[in-house]
Amino acid sequence: MKKSVMGVIALVAAAGVAFAGGTSDKKGSAFIGLAMPETHVERWQKDGAALLADAQAKGYKAEVAFGDADQSKQNQQIQDFLTKGAKLLVIGSVNEGVVSAVADAARDKVTVIAYDRLITGSKDYDYYITFDNYKVGQFQGKALETALNLAAATKDKPKYITLFAGSPTDNNAKVFFDGAIDVLRPYVEKGALKLVGPAPLKSSDPDFMKITTENWRADVAKTRMENLLNNDAKNVVLDGILAPNDTLSRAIQEACASDAKYAGGKLPVCTGQDGEAASIAAIRDGKQYMTVFKDTRKLATATIELADALLKGATPAIAGARLDSESYDTGKKVVKAYLLEPVIVTKDNYKAIMIDSGYYKAEDIK
Ligand code: BGC
Repeated sequence: MKKSVMGVIALVAAAGVAFAGGTSDKKGSAFIGLAMPETHVERWQKDGAALLADAQAKGYKAEVAFGDADQSKQNQQIQDFLTKGAKLLVIGSVNEGVVSAVADAARDKVTVIAYDRLITGSKDYDYYITFDNYKVGQFQGKALETALNLAAATKDKPKYITLFAGSPTDNNAKVFFDGAIDVLRPYVEKGALKLVGPAPLKSSDPDFMKITTENWRADVAKTRMENLLNNDAKNVVLDGILAPNDTLSRAIQEACASDAKYAGGKLPVCTGQDGEAASIAAIRDGKQYMTVFKDTRKLATATIELADALLKGATPAIAGARLDSESYDTGKKVVKAYLLEPVIVTKDNYKAIMIDSGYYKAEDIK
């Protein structure tokens, strides 16, 4: 796995460098810098590769860099793009520390598109493109509602779940959580659903921090799950777990699988997000209940359409995306957000959505 990941990165990097180096350079075409946050979550490699291919297909020079979940490293990569004369940057940020680099871009009159993650605390950009992340969370909450049959649960016969959220420095983590907990809260309030461990009822509750997972790291989630199993969740059988993405969901499943209560295929109902190959296999095998697929190919295509329009001074009309000009506030300004639709994936539809659509080949799902 590691090896093939490195292979993909090497290929992506080589393609970027070769292009920027001029092998297939079109004279006069603008340079687009693509800054992705990390590679330990699989999707970003696909985002990077798709953005690069789409930018090149439209005749732009482009390069992709991955920040390894390290904001100073990503800021350096952004500075490199500026030095190379980038006219536009697509930034999937690591955290809010990116604002200084975005300010430098603005000073150089370079357009910035916040990609997937809202860049909070900045007044130096105007466009954000992502999926409807609140809906992603709602899908996760609704999946627990359905799988646990919460409608039939009562105060005397409640269901038990525990909560996980993504990185405390990623605005998306809050949005996912709010979408999910808004579905679950009524059941908690009537006692039909018990929250085991820290129990925030919105992302602004102080307890939210206790369920977050630094930099979306699998080892952090796994350790936290192990601690829960030895403490708050010791004397209860969990019916479900709100897991914010596939990487963390599998780490949580792993922790549960080594607890006697859940051995022999009796894992709690676990949610997910991203449609990672290993989680599609886990869904097929009945270990993970669902994932939310956000087609990175579509996000990349829409982003490069937006970039192309902005670079040409045209009014963007982005196919398949809904424009929301009011709801996305960085804390310093309201930006224009283009939202794509996420898709819920379970055992019933994973073949059609993940394989027949060409996102994976059947043999990718091991
Ligand atoms: C993305 C998710 C991803 C997570 C960890 C979020 O900002 O929206 O798709 O799983 O970051 O990389």
